[in-house]
Amino acid sequence: MTPRVLALDHVGVLGGAELSMLDVVAGLGDDVSVRLFADGPFREALVRRGVAVRVLDMGALAFVKKESRAPSFAALRAAWQLAGGVAREGAGARVLYANSQKAFVVAALAGRRSGRPVVWHLRDLLGRPHFSALNTRGAVMLANWGAARVIANSQATADAFVRAGGRARIVRVVHNGIAAEPFDAVRDADAQALRAQYAPAPSYVMAVFGRLHAWKGPQVALRALSALPADCQLWVVGAPLFGEHAFEAELRSRAEQLGVASRVQFLGFRDDVPTLMRAADVVVHASTLPEPFGRVIVEGMLARRPVIAADAGGVREIVTDGVTGVLVPPDDSAALAQAVASLRADPARAAAIANAGADHARRAFTVDGMVRGVRAVLDEVMR
Ligand code: UDP
Ligand code: GLC
Repeated sequence: MTPRVLALDHVGVLGGAELSMLDVVAGLGDDVSVRLFADGPFREALVRRGVAVRVLDMGALAFVKKESRAPSFAALRAAWQLAGGVAREGAGARVLYANSQKAFVVAALAGRRSGRPVVWHLRDLLGRPHFSALNTRGAVMLANWGAARVIANSQATADAFVRAGGRARIVRVVHNGIAAEPFDAVRDADAQALRAQYAPAPSYVMAVFGRLHAWKGPQVALRALSALPADCQLWVVGAPLFGEHAFEAELRSRAEQLGVASRVQFLGFRDDVPTLMRAADVVVHASTLPEPFGRVIVEGMLARRPVIAADAGGVREIVTDGVTGVLVPPDDSAALAQAVASLRADPARAAAIANAGADHARRAFTVDGMVRGVRAVLDEVMR
């Protein structure tokens, strides 16, 4: 039988949006087929999970950035051409499910051309400070015109969409779910081996996870490190996924300037995040701008580590301050250092927070719940 859902994403790398979509489409099984507009590890991961996937060429659409003011004529033409391709590819499908903003532009056009409803899984906080006014207005207008439903990855994302002029009636909130199994399968010996490899003993290790980009705030963790005792170490886990190589270089030289270079490990993009989290003492989320959701926070909880997170956006829907994690103001390295020091000084409290977080994450952020939520919206539209 032809799959009823044609799922679309424009990137080939594994960002959080793609990792979440991976679990969604794997959960939808034979009912979905995927088209990506770029090749890369995301396609490979989909294939490994048994999901039908093909890559379409995105042409000039590749050069539009989220801070862009106006899309070029070439980009609009590329979107239109790609929409034709998607409409053909989705000939047998009943609904188009777009997981990224560029994919949604194409899906909205393809949906109109082929008379198919479109569901946009919105994973960004529209509006300032993340997006230019023009980009936000364009996205919202297109959604109001071309989306049957918008799935928001948090209430914060839903609120930002509505604040920017999006129709509240079409929005459904579905939180991300993350599989606990890889975290439960971590072997102590493996975590200990990583710890021995990347940190001297004795030491206290804080770790940040995420692509290297200024708004993800690894520089805030660096500054916090410089205010903490000399046996404190920092692991920076992640890579510049979307070409932010200058930022990585800047980060390394900032570590030198702050005199903490010998206490920082840049570990690059890793596929053993659960083990690394278990090997660390505290998982830090340091985004300087409001985070739409923040998978790394739930992951830190699943790894049964105390999590310190930046108090803004969707993060507040994940963490109850002092109970399931610790919240600090965004971009406040002094507050972050203070939070790390106080968890370290009180291991019993740190363990209680870690355990409460682990229980909460296992209940509130399951893959099953996420797949059920997305499926319900798709069904609603196909009815
Ligand atoms: N991640 C990873 N390897 C790394 C760094 C990060 O697999 O080296 C994963 C991380 O475990 C998380 C995702 O990338 O699942 C980042 O998702 P999040 O929602 O935190 O942020 P995003 O990058 O989507 O804004
Ligand atoms: C986006 C957001 C992130 C969220 C992820 C999965 O990449 O930046 O906060 O966790 O999507 O929905």
